[in-house]
Order: sequence, then C-alpha cells, then structure tokens
Amino acid sequence: MRVPDLLEAADGLAHSRLSEKRYGHTLRVAETAVSLAEAHGTDPHRARLAGLLHDAAREMSQQDLLRTAERWHLPVDDFERDRPVLLHGPVAAGLARRELGVEEEAVLGAVRAHTTGEPGMDDLSLLLYVADKIEPGRDYPGIEGLRELAHRDLHAATARILRSTRDHNRNRGRPTHPRSRKALEWLEGTT
Ligand SMILES: [Fe+2]
Ligand SMILES: [Fe+2]
Repeated sequence: MRVPDLLEAADGLAHSRLSEKRYGHTLRVAETAVSLAEAHGTDPHRARLAGLLHDAAREMSQQDLLRTAERWHLPVDDFERDRPVLLHGPVAAGLARRELGVEEEAVLGAVRAHTTGEPGMDDLSLLLYVADKIEPGRDYPGIEGLRELAHRDLHAATARILRSTRDHNRNRGRPTHPRSRKALEWLEGTT
C-alpha cells in the first residue's frame, strides 16, 4: 500500500474500533509522535502510522484480548494473563499486520512495546511510548517539563515515565511488569 493509503487505512481501523474519545486520543498521539520524530530525525510517516495504530485493540474486552493473543500465538506471560489489558499493544500489532498488511518490524515493534516499554527500544518505540503520555489531552503534574524533555532527550523522557509508573504502582501496592523494570534498567545504563 502507498504511504497515504496506509495512513488512511490505519486511521479508518482506529476510527472503526474506538470510541470518539479514544479515537481523539489516537489522533493526538499520532500528531505528537510526528512532532517528536521531526525533533529527533526519525521518519515522520512511520511515527504517524504507529500512533494511529497503537490503541486499535484498546477497547476489546480483557477476555477477547487474551483469547485473540492465544489464537495468534503471541507470547503471553503470567503477568499479562492476570492483566490482559496489557496485551492491547501486541494485539494491535497483530491487527495491523493482518488487516492492513503492515510488515515493517519497526512500526509493529513500537505498537507492541507501547504498553510496558522494553529494553533496547529504538527511537520509534521510544517516541511512541512517550507520545502516548504527553499528547495535548493529558494533564498531570510535571507534564510541561516532560514535554520539553521529550523533544530534547527521548531516553531520559522514557526513563522518567517508567520511573513514575513504577513509583505510582509501588505506592498503591501494585507490581510493575518485569519488562518495564528491565526497560528502566536498560535506560539508566545508557544515560
Ligand atoms: Fe495503549
Ligand atoms: Fe494510547
């Protein structure tokens, strides 16, 4: 598929599967991903595509996510079995491949990784992960500083988000996915 057609198809897929509210979030993530791609010299088309696709599976039921992941033989760990909502990244990547024929591993990997992060993320994965948390519809203490940091240093911005997620979970007595902990260790080792 030509790039404009693929972007349109990705937009259509998101629109057809999501509420207006989450579709709005999707469009803002795509715009933010493009702006981060431009700031960091990454391909803006891929960034837009990954942004449009990232939450395509977010409104499937937990049961449906788990069943679909199993049917498609996606890896599912115990943590995800307990919290299948985390599978909405990998399942969205599966939808992109099956329904739109997206084969670009960088795009699929970014979509897959946006829920937990993972060690060794490339720039596209980092910027999608960050765009999801800083799109203009988000508002929480420190977001302005995070937006500024994201345009300067993607690794540092991702580490900041992973650290606050871990602390937030810890304060509520909730565990953090081991992949997120490994992603943070990796980032702390690279900065
Ligand atoms: Fe998501
Ligand atoms: Fe999202």
